[in-house]
Amino acid sequence: MIAVEGGRPLRGELTVQGAKNSVLPILAASIMCGDVSVIENCPRLEDVDASVAILRHLGCRVRWLGEDLEVDSSCLSRWDIPDDLMRRMRSSVIFLGAILARCAQAELSFPGGCELGPRPIDLHLTALRTLGVRIDECGGQIRCRCRNLRGTEIVLSLPSVGATENAMLAACGAGGVTVISNAAREPEIVDLQSFLRKMGASVRGAGTSTVIVEGGRSLHGCRHRCIGDRIAAATYLSAVAATGGEITLKGVDYRYLSTVTTALAQAGCRINSSEQHIHLRSNGQLRGICPIRTSPYPGFPTDAQAVVMAALLRSRGTTVFVENIFQNRYRHVAELQRMGANIRLEGRVAVLCGVPRLCGATVRCTDLRGGAALVLAGLQADGITQVEEIHHIKRGYSDLTGDLARLGARIQEIGE
Ligand code: EPZ
Repeated sequence: MIAVEGGRPLRGELTVQGAKNSVLPILAASIMCGDVSVIENCPRLEDVDASVAILRHLGCRVRWLGEDLEVDSSCLSRWDIPDDLMRRMRSSVIFLGAILARCAQAELSFPGGCELGPRPIDLHLTALRTLGVRIDECGGQIRCRCRNLRGTEIVLSLPSVGATENAMLAACGAGGVTVISNAAREPEIVDLQSFLRKMGASVRGAGTSTVIVEGGRSLHGCRHRCIGDRIAAATYLSAVAATGGEITLKGVDYRYLSTVTTALAQAGCRINSSEQHIHLRSNGQLRGICPIRTSPYPGFPTDAQAVVMAALLRSRGTTVFVENIFQNRYRHVAELQRMGANIRLEGRVAVLCGVPRLCGATVRCTDLRGGAALVLAGLQADGITQVEEIHHIKRGYSDLTGDLARLGARIQEIGE
């Protein structure tokens, strides 16, 4: 449980953790080379621990070297991921393409749904079938076999981040050229391409809607430093926007979260950025802004919806949110309403009317980013807020409590 006392402005400097959504596909990709790779700037997260558990289950040797994670996949000996490991982290499905590229077979259970609603993987499976993978689905198990993966054109019906990544990894093991059309364009996919190239793969076009892979090349270990986490950055900026104060963020490219900084600037924050840092100043009295519609990158990131909503809870005026990516990504709203937030839900639309004050309460995390939003609400509420079920937060933030305390928040973790 996290206990936080509201009403204090935040100020200071922070280096943002490595990007969770970069590290996870890169850890999966590291098994393809059968060699030793080192991932630098790797954040200490529950989801990273889950990936390490999978790597070790597959037979890899993994060890931490300070902030770097060393993966030796030369001794990989299995191609299955058991149900308990799949359920621990639904994005484990990202291992599927990498295991197939290395082993030409794979066996895993359907990833559980998660707090955001059903998390289908039909686009992943369609892409892999297009590459020649025979996939049998029965009893919640997915059994994949492929005599030889062959390069081809894959057209994604929507720019799914995970399906794009799975297709890229499997294509590295396919003879010939694979063209992935309608690919997702997130910065984390560009980071994955950078890692694959360092391993010796021929991949280009990441960051655009068309990614081209010339597969079948022999791969080797490499050393790669992951980009900063743009969603963690959005979280800290939103915290200071809400409480008032100022913050300098380092270790993240400001261009990766320009839709978020634009929204916070509209709300009244003063923001300036350079290649190396983002500086935000706020008087804590924000105003409502024009509608926030989440969409695939470079649009407004769905992962930042909850924390920007938290920043605007006491704003003067109204802000409309439209969540276009996930079906059920407003579960934090009911918890915020317990603190006095005025938010009305209508399907994918949330209408937030700012209130003058919030009151501390006991609230419960529903998911990773929703949990962060509850902490941000507590930072600006009267009295003490107790945030429970904080394991959700630990999935994606290496030290949210410690970071906020270092910025001047009265916050502490008390048990789980
Ligand atoms: C990635 O999830 C991120 N996770 C998510 O971050 C992020 O919210 C999401 O991309 C969107 O940006 C990681 O990178 C580990 P999608 P992913 O496939 O790949 C539907 C966080 O908080 N869909 O782009 O699962 C899906 O249901 C997490 O860090 C299908 O219908 O997202 C969703 O509505 C949460 N069929 C939409 O597409 C499929 O086969 C976008 O999903 C795949 C997806």
